[in-house]
Amino acid sequence: MSAVVKIEDIHKIYESGEVPVHAVRGVSLEIHQQEFVALMGASGSGKSTLMNLLGCLDRPTRGSYLLDGVDISRLDKNELADIRNKKLGFVFQGFNLLARTTAVENVELPCLYGKQRMSAKAMRERAMHCLEIVGLSNRADHMPNQLSGGQQQRVAIARALVNEPQLLLADEPTGNLDSKTSIEVMGVFQKLNDQGITIVMVTHELDVAHYCKRYLILRDGVVVRDEATLDRSIANVELAKLKQAETAAKLLGAGSTAA
Ligand SMILES: Nc1ncnc2c1ncn2[C@@H]1O[C@H](COP(=O)(O)OP(=O)(O)OP(=O)(O)O)[C@@H](O)[C@H]1O
Ligand SMILES: [Mg+2]
Repeated sequence: MSAVVKIEDIHKIYESGEVPVHAVRGVSLEIHQQEFVALMGASGSGKSTLMNLLGCLDRPTRGSYLLDGVDISRLDKNELADIRNKKLGFVFQGFNLLARTTAVENVELPCLYGKQRMSAKAMRERAMHCLEIVGLSNRADHMPNQLSGGQQQRVAIARALVNEPQLLLADEPTGNLDSKTSIEVMGVFQKLNDQGITIVMVTHELDVAHYCKRYLILRDGVVVRDEATLDRSIANVELAKLKQAETAAKLLGAGSTAA
């Protein structure tokens, strides 16, 4: 099987400031279909820079990047935008939903930027399907401020799915969520991954990374570790355990009031 991502000796040097910053220093990496990769490392180690390169939001200073077999370095700005729209989905820490716009309209947005013209009806159907995948079809008409943080992130994931991407890129998707909601969101990612989507996710949290299949650690722009996750966490199992613990706590509470 060909790699979804194949980068070779990629570098990124920011030249904007007084001193150039060599943020990514010769990373080589292959990511195949249905992998689920956590990208970890200290603040400033180059995670977002690498994600921006993977997401074709920025170009490497040198090195090569084949995305699904397409050589990114040969593309102009319009072609890059096009490939982003077709092949990639993005999920951010801050959800980035449009306020005063319903959940389903937020999910439809990327369809508007696609090259192919879609009818309003087809767009709505596709957006509703994606909301269903993340378990939110019953909140389609809600505004973002009428949704919990986890629900907003699920809308953002549905939006990332609407153009049927090959690769989902998420930068700290659970950074603004409490621990239970984080597990729920990881459950959505695991379900999508089981269905064949390739995911790369930046996270600072070890327990969140534990839901991925493989983890990379960056230090000063270099990959210093690249390993399979041993004993991976499964969101449904963890959620069931939490529920059990909550029920037990309630029973105990009830017992002590009765006594
Ligand atoms: N646009 C930019 N111009 C100049 N330097 C930059 C730019 N973006 C990032 N850097 C520098 O590149 C290095 C890597 O930054 P990056 O944002 O990739 O780190 P990170 O691992 O995502 O950190 P964090 O965990 O804090 O988000 C840092 O030293 C940062 O200061
Ligand atoms: Mg970052």
